Amino acid sequence: MKIELQQESVVKLLTPALAVYSFEENPASTGTASRLPAEVQKILGELKSGGEITGKAYECTLIHHPAGMAAHKLLLVGAGKREKFKPFQLGRLAGTAVRYLRARGVHQMAWFIQEEDGAEEIQSVVDGAILADYDADRYRTEREAERRIDLFTLVCDKPAAPEAWTAAIEEGQKIAEATNFTRNLVNEPANQMTPTLLARRAREMATSAGLAYQELGPEEIRSLKMGAFWAVAQGSEEPPRMLILRYMPPDASESPVIGLIGKGITFDSGGISIKPSQDMHEMKTDMAGGATMLGVMQAIAQLKPRVRVIAVVPATENMPSGKAYRPGDVITSMSGKTIEVLNTDAEGRLVLADALAYAKRLGCNVLIDVATLTGAVMVALGNITTGVFGRDQEWVNRVLASGAETGEKMWQMPVDDDYRELYKSSIADLANTGGRYGGAITAAMFVGEFAGDTPWVHLDIAGTRWSNEEKPYLAKGPTGVPVRTLVHLLLHVAQLK
Ligand code: BES
Ligand code: MN
Ligand code: ZN
Repeated sequence: MKIELQQESVVKLLTPALAVYSFEENPASTGTASRLPAEVQKILGELKSGGEITGKAYECTLIHHPAGMAAHKLLLVGAGKREKFKPFQLGRLAGTAVRYLRARGVHQMAWFIQEEDGAEEIQSVVDGAILADYDADRYRTEREAERRIDLFTLVCDKPAAPEAWTAAIEEGQKIAEATNFTRNLVNEPANQMTPTLLARRAREMATSAGLAYQELGPEEIRSLKMGAFWAVAQGSEEPPRMLILRYMPPDASESPVIGLIGKGITFDSGGISIKPSQDMHEMKTDMAGGATMLGVMQAIAQLKPRVRVIAVVPATENMPSGKAYRPGDVITSMSGKTIEVLNTDAEGRLVLADALAYAKRLGCNVLIDVATLTGAVMVALGNITTGVFGRDQEWVNRVLASGAETGEKMWQMPVDDDYRELYKSSIADLANTGGRYGGAITAAMFVGEFAGDTPWVHLDIAGTRWSNEEKPYLAKGPTGVPVRTLVHLLLHVAQLK
């Protein structure tokens, strides 16, 4: 999708389709619909009286040959109630317009912006448009691709700050494209996304983005004594890989060095504690945490915030076999802590245990991990909200604030020593499960044991990695959550001090 900025009046703009939005109070003349010529507003007013237009969020009304305008079509998108409106919702409105129009054969469209709009609003529109134009249809022979928007024009009659706007467009574009990169990785089936293939995609991205790339194979993983990572990997025919990507801008201060650790299970069968077959195919998405970190690295390589970042992605399958680890096995993690395996399906916390320890060894002094860790977080928060855990409230708050600004919903869950009882082992330092109650908390805290005193935030995206329903502004399938939150966080951290 090409994005351009054009100065033109709403009346004179020549485009196949121009989109505007309005609020419930008066859908004929609020929002950017307030800028429409009187004749068009009059028609909208009639549609409103007839009950055809309500202004409810994402409602779409298409007018052909709007009176007195050069645009061939005018699309009015409902924005809901004005009191509840936040900048990130502009992106959803633009996204709704993109999906509505392209479904009707439109390939070039325009979105009206107001001179008072700031960089945040512009970025949100661009971001929303690009995210909306994505479909997880790579393996369909009749693709939706033919229905995509090729040109998205931002129009304003009096651009107030063209330079700032152009910068905002570029930033929005880079972040959304990185999010779509993550979505593509998550969407790949496990036969096309083995640890080796994930490593290849990471290396290709790193090379073209100018990031330092390194990977550890089976021998290195064993010789570094990553016993927990190795235990999960040992049952698979596919060799594991630890991916390491470094972003070390020379102008950044020495500290912090932020470690981004992403769970990279390319297929989670559950291992010997095998999962029911019902929804097992969904476990191709169990590398969404790792894919998130690769998307974040791509975005920051392009946006160049002044902060040091190292991504660490432990990638492996979790498979049952004659070589697989068993329930009851005791393993020794790289940190030296011993773990009794009570369930081989609680594999995410094991690979993360060694990945966190390794990130610390590489010099990271802040740790953020993202993982499709537990079914329990889906029970708690559904598919809408990501669970956030951590002991360092300052860093937790930064993540929550970035989530609120990008519109990726987050909710803090407790981390409390009283829960530690639940994952004690009778024969080792820790057990890898803590029972059904508080399952998302005990899983998070198990991972946190390996962060030690280093500030650490954990995001459980088991529920939010994937959307089972199509939204007006987003295809069904991989969501790319929480790429935008973490990019926002890193841009913000780089501006501190
Ligand atoms: N990858 C799963 C969690 C998951 C479930 C992600 C559903 C996305 C959708 C994880 O490895 C897992 O199997 N967790 C177990 C832990 C249990 C055995 C303690 C779970 O949540 O059931
Ligand atoms: Mn599992
Ligand atoms: Zn898993």
